[in-house]
Amino acid sequence: MENGYLTFALGKGRLARKTLEMFEQIGITCEEMKDKDTRKLIFINEELKFKFFLAKGPDVPTYVEYGAADIGIVGRDTILEESRNIYEVLDLNFGNCKMCVCGPKSAEELLKHHELIRVATKYPKIAKDYFYNKKHQTVEIIKLNGSIELAPIVGLSEVIVDIVETGSTLKENGLSVLEEVCPLSARMVVNQVSMKMENERITRLITDLKSVIKAS
Ligand code: PRP
Repeated sequence: MENGYLTFALGKGRLARKTLEMFEQIGITCEEMKDKDTRKLIFINEELKFKFFLAKGPDVPTYVEYGAADIGIVGRDTILEESRNIYEVLDLNFGNCKMCVCGPKSAEELLKHHELIRVATKYPKIAKDYFYNKKHQTVEIIKLNGSIELAPIVGLSEVIVDIVETGSTLKENGLSVLEEVCPLSARMVVNQVSMKMENERITRLITDLKSVIKAS
């Protein structure tokens, strides 16, 4: 909101690329950002009074909650895990995948009988909410930072809670989806104060994006 600019925090990588593609379709461009060799961290479209910066996905809700960004684009997995005080205003309908409980087929019985099992995940909050509040199953949750599929293979845990997109990582490692936790996709989030102060601009942006999403 600073000096009339609307500031966007985009989750680095594929998410940011897809977001910029979508923004181009509604006439929002940022030429500076296309330069692959740039070391710049913040990009400005002076004409539209938009600023963009790239951040690590899990940090996007933080920037938005504190108002350092008015708007963020981030996966629903991150929104659920971070549980910040922000408004989730739009499903951008890309990056569609699912949060699932996965493991070897043999773990099916352990889940069915609510055994006290170990669950490895990058998403301890989502996993805890699912097992404790939805399934009413007591489990031990182990936080990992990546390559989660390793955990049941090397005997760290019986199952994992992780993102499944094509299912090929699971398949190549002899694991399967045992239960589905929730659907995921890219979402737009908005700072609570910005939503009031910049309501007109943000509402117009949402309306324009909705028409692109509908046509795709
Ligand atoms: C994600 C996720 C799975 C994989 C799923 O990992 O954690 O491992 O993608 O995709 P698939 O169903 O299409 O195989 P990512 O590549 O983001 O890296 P990470 O293991 O370090 O989290």
